[in-house]
Amino acid sequence: MIKRTDALRRKWLLRIVQGFSVTGLSLLAYPFLKALLPGSSNRDYLEVDLTGLQPGEHKKVIWQGRSVIVLRRFNESRKIEAATGATQSYKDALKDPDSTLSVQPKYTQNRYRSRRPGVFVFYSNCTHLGCEVSVLSDPIKTEIICPCHQSRFDDAGRVLQGAVASYNLEIPDYTQISGQRIRLQSTAT
Ligand code: FES
Repeated sequence: MIKRTDALRRKWLLRIVQGFSVTGLSLLAYPFLKALLPGSSNRDYLEVDLTGLQPGEHKKVIWQGRSVIVLRRFNESRKIEAATGATQSYKDALKDPDSTLSVQPKYTQNRYRSRRPGVFVFYSNCTHLGCEVSVLSDPIKTEIICPCHQSRFDDAGRVLQGAVASYNLEIPDYTQISGQRIRLQSTAT
């Protein structure tokens, strides 16, 4: 009788240990399996390669179900903006010149609305009713226009006076890894 009880106890102990082993292995394997799933690399971050993108050109990517545009700004337009950006007349032409009403990470609440002056990253949905904006570049500057009701934005996504949109274009969280690479991410580091 004692032997039978011991055998039963051993059997239960064995099952418990096996259960823990399977759970432990599953937890260990989860990150690796997750990395193998199609598109899984886009879940926590998305790197965008800007190699070959000329001044005035842009690239569009889908990040967490939303369209994001990465624009390589003109040096010239940066100089123009730097020269005029602080003037009252330039500010007067904008609805929210200091982006106090607009949505962006704190580190982009600056003159260029970006981590580095040369690259502007923004969600492509117009802040009026959400239409996809168009990026138009001529030889020295870029303008962003919404085709639905013609709201216009400068190359930092700041909405111009006269537009029906009231807010500057929204900016996602991102890190500039280098001059050629940015990383969109859920939480910026
Ligand atoms: Fe862009 Fe109306 S949706 S101006």
